[in-house]
Amino acid sequence: MLTGKIIGLGSYLPPKIMTNDDFARIVDTNDDWITERTGIKQRHFSDGIEDTSSAMAAKAAKAAIEDAGIDASEIEMIVVACTTPDKLFPAMSFCVQKAIGAEGCICFDVNSACPGFVTAYNVAQNFIENSGVKTALVIGAECLTNIVDYTDRGTCILFGDGAGAVVLRAGEGRKNSFILRSTTEKMECLYCETLKQPKRASEEEFEKDTYLHMNGREVFRFVVSTIPANMQELLDREGIDASEIDHFVFHQANSRIIESTAKKLGVPLEKFPMNIQETGNTSSASIPILLTKMKKEGTLKKGDKIMMASFGAGLNWGVNYFEY
Ligand code: ACO
Repeated sequence: MLTGKIIGLGSYLPPKIMTNDDFARIVDTNDDWITERTGIKQRHFSDGIEDTSSAMAAKAAKAAIEDAGIDASEIEMIVVACTTPDKLFPAMSFCVQKAIGAEGCICFDVNSACPGFVTAYNVAQNFIENSGVKTALVIGAECLTNIVDYTDRGTCILFGDGAGAVVLRAGEGRKNSFILRSTTEKMECLYCETLKQPKRASEEEFEKDTYLHMNGREVFRFVVSTIPANMQELLDREGIDASEIDHFVFHQANSRIIESTAKKLGVPLEKFPMNIQETGNTSSASIPILLTKMKKEGTLKKGDKIMMASFGAGLNWGVNYFEY
């Protein structure tokens, strides 16, 4: 059966690092609390000038194309997942197309918050499996540090910037398999108003509203009760036992969420690679950044059975099964 196989992986993390101690100088927090509650030790910060979301997306894309050993002219489709674009339009995928020197691609962006990469990956797979696209570039890129409130210790310590990309090429293999779902029940738990809407009630309200707002405890509760069940549902559908999966590549939002998921699935934690300690939560970039790290470290091998899972604002979530 025709499906998209990952032939290239690349990522980009901006050089500036903010440690937990750096945050302790800004808000009432400390390294012990952040480490214990989230697993995060540091995160990368974009300078906001050179490393915009589209620039980081292009850097990750170039690295993935180089890793694939192909020419940018072979790319037929570019999908960028991002909730923090540096322009409203053109879409970031067009900026990436220009930066990598491709032309004539199907280009559009996806905004489904943290699961954006999983959503974009499935959209690209659909184009490969059903619409004749041979080579696609799927990117997750974020500059979350642009929208966090640095007086809110419950959110500002969580996020980091970066981008990750995969090159998918049509080939013979098992059909892409996924679950994408959402609920409106917890919409108010995680949101961010758009920037520069002039008809706001007051300047103060306008300013405050453009920050990310999150009820972390509610999101946490929802995720640990929903995601493992959906992962199991996909395993059952595919007739695979959790023990057969080589790597559970899970959205890097909180190490305690990952630990709880591993426990619920009855899988050793070693099967859940983590880099949250180095990157914080990079939203839609977290999974391709982690996949790239795994490849560089040699833990990702041809034929490995992979399950990706992510969740975020909406709330929405996605789970994928594929063979690398
Ligand atoms: N430092 C010290 N204390 C803190 C900090 C901090 N940085 N932040 C909160 N606290 C305090 C709170 O004020 C509270 O104090 P109180 O008991 O005196 O009221 C206490 O710590 C406990 O707060 P909780 O919010 O209950 O802490 P919790 O254990 O839930 O951890 C966290 C908070 C880390 C945000 C966690 O809930 C979480 O990770 N949730 C999931 C977030 C997530 O995954 N979001 C989805 C993706 S984001 C996207 O889509 C853009």
